[in-house]
Amino acid sequence: ALQEAHRVLKPGGRFLCLEFSQVNNSLISSLYDLYSFQVIPVLGEIIAGDWKSYQYLVESIRRFPAQEEFKEMIEDAGFLKVEYQNLTSGIVAIHSGFKL
Ligand SMILES: *[C@@H]1O[C@H](CO)[C@@H](O)[C@H](O)[C@H]1NC(C)=O
Ligand SMILES: *[C@@H]1O[C@H](CO)[C@@H](O)[C@H](O)[C@H]1NC(C)=O
Repeated sequence: ALQEAHRVLKPGGRFLCLEFSQVNNSLISSLYDLYSFQVIPVLGEIIAGDWKSYQYLVESIRRFPAQEEFKEMIEDAGFLKVEYQNLTSGIVAIHSGFKL
């Protein structure tokens, strides 16, 4: 997907990715894990009658590459000036790179 984004961008184009990422603060991480694994699947069951999909959602978020690893993957796809910003201690990160 990263290579395809690089292919379709015009020179000078910017790639941005907003994704759930890894939390860099142990207190927030504990609260976030509690919310993710104890609350979200329960809400999924109550609202959508589907515990498993919401369980899968929080598990798949945990498998997404960490900030530095994803930065390297973007660089490997050919992007330059790759950087990222952690939001709310890394619950979400915005990665950015340019096709030059
Ligand atoms: C962002 O968070 C990650 C993982 O929690 C951490 O390794 C990294 O140093 C942080 N980077 C910045 C720029 O805050
Ligand atoms: C954690 O992320 C926040 C942004 O949410 C950042 O301000 C802080 O420097 C980061 N801390 C570490 C240790 O990377």
